Amino acid sequence: MKVIHSISQMSICSRKIKANGQSIGFVPTMGALHQGHLSLIKKAKRDCDVVVISIFVNPTQFGPQEDFKKYPRSFANDKKLAQKAGIDFLFAPAAEEIYPSNYCTYIKVKNLDERLCGAFRPGHFQGVATIVHKLLNIVQPNIAYFGQKDFQQAVIIKTMVRNLNIPVKIRVLPTVREKDGLAMSSRNRYLNEREKKDASILFQTLQLAKEMVEKGEKNSAKVISGMKKILGRVPDAKIDYVSIVNPENLEDVRLIDKKILVALAVWIGKVRLIDNMLIDEKPETRMTNGE
Ligand code: PAJ
Repeated sequence: MKVIHSISQMSICSRKIKANGQSIGFVPTMGALHQGHLSLIKKAKRDCDVVVISIFVNPTQFGPQEDFKKYPRSFANDKKLAQKAGIDFLFAPAAEEIYPSNYCTYIKVKNLDERLCGAFRPGHFQGVATIVHKLLNIVQPNIAYFGQKDFQQAVIIKTMVRNLNIPVKIRVLPTVREKDGLAMSSRNRYLNEREKKDASILFQTLQLAKEMVEKGEKNSAKVISGMKKILGRVPDAKIDYVSIVNPENLEDVRLIDKKILVALAVWIGKVRLIDNMLIDEKPETRMTNGE
């Protein structure tokens, strides 16, 4: 595995690989690698000749009161994990090279960036879209891989790629979870043992929504109120949002009559966690014996 810090060196390597007729699979990350990241890497390895991952804790996607400074950084361990996973190139640029002092260009994906997490993290998705666009330009992958865990992020990136005709395929892979259902996340490292147990309430809440919808509940408000009741069992849980939206445009859905995305952001103590689940509504008519 080759570790690259400079933008020009990464671009040169990518150009050579492509000139050789080989395909590049790319997994952008902020490091503190876990099984969720590794699942994306595995798929990239299966699909592509060469796999590049980036590790860059992107300052522009953190708000002024957010956890940029204390975001987990474990480069030495990440390097070992990346090597073990069979990655070809690890791209880890310095913030000053990505954002020099006169930097002034940002990408905004309108409307989508204001829904769900966007309402609570102003500017976050502008930072995400900007860094992903820059990384795609530098690495020039054939396919880039993202997790469903950050569903809104994936929708915004797919929209940006489509709108700006960026020559890359975007693949979105399922959320990898702990045994108790907690979605893996670098931020789980902030949780103490009790909070970690409490945090499984997010998945239980999503499962309740799935059961309700599969049993035929069509009223979003009822599903959301059932979910909030479950979250109320954890005294330390503070809800940012519990929403049922159209997975394409992230607009609120009142009547559940097609596939929906149930998404939530909940604070467990001082840690903000997000999770989501895609749910198909109950088919109108189900044939059973004798009907
Ligand atoms: P990060 O949180 O490090 O996540 C990198 C990628 O891993 C994202 O596509 C994310 O959705 C995916 N991922 C995280 N947890 C996952 C899980 N439990 N299962 C499956 N995939 C998971 O997301 C970012 O970094 C940044 O915003 C980035 C896109 C790198 C831009 O800075």
